[in-house]
Amino acid sequence: MSRREPIAVIGTGYVGLVTAAGFAELGNEVWCVDIDATKIERLNAGEVPIYEPGLAESIAANRERLHFGTDLAPALERARLLFVAVGTPPTYSGDADLSAVNAVVAAIPASDRHALVMKSTVPCGTGANLRRVLAEQGKAGLGYVSCPEFLKEGSALADFRAPDRVVVGDAGGWAGDAVVELYTPLEAPVVRTDVASAEMVKLASNAFLATKISFINEIANVCEETGADVAEVAKGMGLDSRIGTAFLQPGIGYGGSCFPKDVTALKQLAGNTGYHFQLLGAVIEVNELQKRRVVAKLQKHLGDMAGRHVALLGLAFKPDTDDMREASSLVLAARLQAEGARVSAYDPIAEVQARTLMPSVELADSALGALDGADAAVLVTEWSEFADLDWSEVAGRMSGTLVVDGRNALDREAVRAAGLTYEGVGRS
Ligand SMILES: NC(=O)c1ccc[n+]([C@@H]2O[C@H](COP(=O)([O-])OP(=O)(O)OC[C@H]3O[C@@H](n4cnc5c(N)ncnc54)[C@H](O)[C@@H]3O)[C@@H](O)[C@H]2O)c1
Repeated sequence: MSRREPIAVIGTGYVGLVTAAGFAELGNEVWCVDIDATKIERLNAGEVPIYEPGLAESIAANRERLHFGTDLAPALERARLLFVAVGTPPTYSGDADLSAVNAVVAAIPASDRHALVMKSTVPCGTGANLRRVLAEQGKAGLGYVSCPEFLKEGSALADFRAPDRVVVGDAGGWAGDAVVELYTPLEAPVVRTDVASAEMVKLASNAFLATKISFINEIANVCEETGADVAEVAKGMGLDSRIGTAFLQPGIGYGGSCFPKDVTALKQLAGNTGYHFQLLGAVIEVNELQKRRVVAKLQKHLGDMAGRHVALLGLAFKPDTDDMREASSLVLAARLQAEGARVSAYDPIAEVQARTLMPSVELADSALGALDGADAAVLVTEWSEFADLDWSEVAGRMSGTLVVDGRNALDREAVRAAGLTYEGVGRS
């Protein structure tokens, strides 16, 4: 393997760790820095603090090229490219909170040898603002590259290894070329552009995907009124090459650490410039209502929810992750409890997060444990183990018969054959 450039990754969350592991696989020495000392201790002890398929194995296999610490100095000494992968959560106003990004910028000393490579999702215009701040701080020599991240939790490493595209935005100079060079072995299409356009590619991509989800959810809701089956409709639509099948699965709304905040951030960004982004307002509203429609479905069958026992199957915002940020399960559990229902739940991986985020929900060790004595079950996250449930056994454990399939992931014939009542999304 030819000698590869050492890099630094600042922030060791979902994006930072996957980026670090991915580049270590390619042969780069990676110096990872995080302000969370406990996380760094765990990483140095060989523990991986998040669940992401294949990540623990990749980190273990490339351990000699991965260095974890809380101090920037060793990273600055060895690496020119400083990948920034810190969180950018929403503020109360809906704008992105850039305080962690700003803290990183403030901590980097003046240098002509280093460049910031922004992986964190930031509003369009952030790069230009940061360059101004850097100049004010006497650090105009630092390079700046926007390199937004498109990985999906649950398949993040696979996405790193085979990205649909790599977007590199810069204003010229050595750093943009060096970032392109780093990604060359992946043989992905590269979009080389300016910083603002790169920032906008990321926001626009997430907003478009969220729009597709809200669109098919609305089609599903109309299907419920008209007798059409949304699964058939989505198949028929998706085969049109101009439309495509991806993100045409209706459900109980999107969640996670990215779509909700990025769609809102883009809407706010537009609003701050005086442009009213009407479409995104509707996308967000449809998504909120979609989570609440489940309660109406339960009420249709069970009437008043007070004292009723509802079991939630899955809590993570999607399968194969332990991430519960903005998960639909949080809204659903809170709505059901506000209606006086008793809520039990099971998730194969997200239990630790759930204990903190929904302390009044009864967490079970298994799907059947959560279903014990329930009047109704709701499939919230389509973990594959729920599709494999023995529905006769489920029927034996529940006291009621209602199964609401919030992701259209269950075999409805098998559910019905067990004597249960099946309610999907957009299908009779
Ligand atoms: N999670 C995803 O699926 C995903 C996908 C694409 C893009 N993104 C974007 O990537 C960014 C990171 O997301 P994430 O999910 O990895 O976040 P995360 O919360 O999992 O990780 C962020 C990490 O940054 C650390 N950190 C905070 N301030 C720091 C500082 N000053 N110095 C060093 N470390 C610091 C935190 O301790 C944490 O470990 C966000 O902007 C997000 O929008 C996320």
